Formats: sequence, C-alpha cells, structure tokens
Amino acid sequence: MKIVVIQGPNLNMLGVREQNIYGPMKLEDIHAQMKAFAEQNGLDIEFFQSNLEGEIIDKIQECLGDADGIIINPAAYTHTSIAIRDALSAVQLPAIEVHLSNIHAREEFRQKSLIAPVVAGQIAGMGPFGYHLAMVGMSQILKEVEAMKQARAAQQAQAATQANA
Ligand code: DQA
Repeated sequence: MKIVVIQGPNLNMLGVREQNIYGPMKLEDIHAQMKAFAEQNGLDIEFFQSNLEGEIIDKIQECLGDADGIIINPAAYTHTSIAIRDALSAVQLPAIEVHLSNIHAREEFRQKSLIAPVVAGQIAGMGPFGYHLAMVGMSQILKEVEAMKQARAAQQAQAATQANA
C-alpha cells in the first residue's frame, strides 16, 4: 500500500516562514518522521512539494493507479483552487487534508477550504503532529479498504462455489 504526501506552496519554507504560526520544524524533518511511521507499518510513501498549482494537479492525477491514499496540505490553494479539488474528486482515492495551523481560527479568507468536501477528513491546528495523525488515519482507512476488498473476494468465491454445486 502506497501513500503520496503532497505539500503545497511555501511549505518548503517551513522552519523559516512565520515560526510563530508554523513552528520551527523543517519540511524534511516532518517527512523523516512520516517515513519512519510508514516503515514501521509496512507502507510505501512518496513525498512531493510544489509551489505551482498545475504541478500539484499533475501529481494528484499521477496517483491514479500508483497510490492507495493521499495526504495533502494544499497550503494557500486550499482557499482558492477549484482545480485541485476537482483533481482529488477525479481520482477518487482516500485523501486527508492537513494544516499545521488552525485555519478556522485565522483570517476569514483562510476559514473556507474548497478541499474539505472531497476528502475523508481534515486535520488542522496540531502543528507537525497533524501529519502523524494523518498517517494513523490513512493507515486505518487503508486497512478498512483492504478488509472490504477481501470480504468481497470471499463473497464472490463463495457465490462461484455455490453456482458450480
Ligand atoms: C496552511 C494554512 C494556509 O492558510 C496557508 O496558506 C499555508 C499553510 C497550514 O498548514 O496551516 O500556507 O495550509
């Protein structure tokens, strides 16, 4: 099972930008923690960061057939990008939206997420720990998806046996 982590604009500046809001941790350190969790839980993981909307959309599209789940912090595009929302809807993969800060407690323009309606859930305001929570949430979702697939396969096998009897 593979998770793709997509990070939007300016998140490459973590550790430098507005530390009072986003904290001192660098993106590569957040990713190192997520990789460790993935390894401990037998999951493949890939990281992608871009400051460009079109590149983020291309990456979401590439996830189709390549990934089982998406963890995404669309950063400022959260509040503006119908195109990123449409890409997430199009691929129909389980996705979790993460924000380091509590966007609901900030400026009015940050309080609306265009992404939230098309993801399984949103984690906001937990700082870098939010990405760990997203990993826990996604691994649970993937376990449930796998269990459903196995149950369906078992049902089909049983139906085939009965049809042949
Ligand atoms: C952010 C919140 C956004 O409003 C902002 O534009 C970001 C980061 C967060 O992680 O808290 O760049 O997504």
